[in-house]
Amino acid sequence: MKFPIPAFHEIPVAFQPEIIHQTKYLIDGELREWKGDRISVTSPLIIQDQGEEKAWELGSYPSLGANEALDALAACERAYDKGTGIWPQMKIEERIKAIQYFTQLMVGKRDQIIKLLMWEIGKTLKDSAKEFDRTIEYINDTINALKEGDRSSSRFVFEKGIFAQIKRAPYGIVLCMGPFNYPLNETFCTLIPAIAMGNTVIFKPAKFGVLLLEPLLECFQKAFPKGVINTLYGEGSTVISPVMESGKVDVLAFIGASTTANIIAKKHPRINRLRAILGLNAKNPAILLPDCDLDQSIPEVLSGSLSYNGQRCTALKIIFVPEALASSFLEKYIHALSQWKFGLPWQEQVMLTPLPESGKTAWLSDLISDAIQKGAKIQNPMGGEVYETFMYPAVLYPVSPNSKLYHEEQFGPIVPIVPYKEISEPLNYVKESNFGQQVSIFGKDPKVIGRITDQLVNQVARVNINAQCQRGPDTFPFTGRKDSADGTLSVSDALRAFSMRSVVAAKEDEESKELFRSILETKSSQFISTNFIL
Ligand code: G3H
Repeated sequence: MKFPIPAFHEIPVAFQPEIIHQTKYLIDGELREWKGDRISVTSPLIIQDQGEEKAWELGSYPSLGANEALDALAACERAYDKGTGIWPQMKIEERIKAIQYFTQLMVGKRDQIIKLLMWEIGKTLKDSAKEFDRTIEYINDTINALKEGDRSSSRFVFEKGIFAQIKRAPYGIVLCMGPFNYPLNETFCTLIPAIAMGNTVIFKPAKFGVLLLEPLLECFQKAFPKGVINTLYGEGSTVISPVMESGKVDVLAFIGASTTANIIAKKHPRINRLRAILGLNAKNPAILLPDCDLDQSIPEVLSGSLSYNGQRCTALKIIFVPEALASSFLEKYIHALSQWKFGLPWQEQVMLTPLPESGKTAWLSDLISDAIQKGAKIQNPMGGEVYETFMYPAVLYPVSPNSKLYHEEQFGPIVPIVPYKEISEPLNYVKESNFGQQVSIFGKDPKVIGRITDQLVNQVARVNINAQCQRGPDTFPFTGRKDSADGTLSVSDALRAFSMRSVVAAKEDEESKELFRSILETKSSQFISTNFIL
């Protein structure tokens, strides 16, 4: 395998990255200058430089310390001011205007952010553009859902001699941490609903995809009152520990590995105060049934297992195939895979790209060796070949239940294929698994699919029929059972997750009614209000 390693001047000018030495971080509405230690950012893309091949240095960002973390927390607390701050008290229409202004500023940074997505995490141009545009769409949908939610709570309810207004109110201080595979989109899928509901936020970028958020710092600064959004850069153990140990965080919004989520959550001394919105590990199976149409299923299974090199939490990470179908499945799957190009993210039709995590290809190679020792074979030409940060996908068959690959989430370009005799075998896999995000079933018989679906809906959070697993459309509930998630994300679910229902109630007597009429007429309350957002 010969992976393309260009010299810098061979890269089209539009895709050549500028070096960014980020010196600023946003706390309390100020873009503060950092003069301390820095963390350097190296691209997963290898470049030829003066006859040497090397990982391209993209720049660096501040490695803040505990003092800055506590400053961010204090700014967040002041802005929330126990629910009496400008932001939580602001009219929803005004909050919406601030978010819309931010979105307008963010759109101006589109090209820069897409380029950085390609260079920092190796995502293809097409998928990087999709990540950006989907995020803008998500913000706009969130605004619409916020309006809709407020409209439906703008009336009073009367029950058993009591009348009340029930509306959603913020929790307080939210710590947002996104994953490296969607460093923009999944960070914003929690950050935007959190602030939309009136919370104030400390946000720490994912381990990769940090510099791409730098252009947005001044957009945050311009669009929101001070302290509403505060950024933390640096080692998690240094900056996250003091924030959590303070016991002042009300919501932890974290998308990433469950082990990390547990370490962070356990630092909070008041566990009942802490709400958690977690998107965690998954090992979504594809189950092919004996009557499935391979020609229709294979494009879905291929894209489900290998888009963005398998680095999606929703990726199909284990494929169960009836023994009798295995050889034709392998032949067709491998043929379809051979049509996928590998290369640099901006190159036309490239689907397979280098991996950002350092040491990942070695870790994946160990997983492959273990599966081979337990009886599997690499079925495809170049399968598992590594060039620096790139690994060509390895299709492994037959993968044994004794191998690590059968149980562990690979989050990379390995496709484990398991033959089965009885449908109970893949169903038991799902039942026994510690993960419970989604599953895909491929087949035709309505009786079989109906019966299996009824079992699977109680094991996972989404059953996809003749389609790959995925999060979208973003209006659908996105969650998981067991160790795969806590809480539900979707445009409207996220708004619910970052708020609680608060009730204002009074006895249904003339005196109370008169008081409420007067509050409504004089508009002396934001909460007690029948204002209908148009
Ligand atoms: O990495 C996990 C993502 O939530 C998957 O989202 O299905 O849209 O790629 P996706």
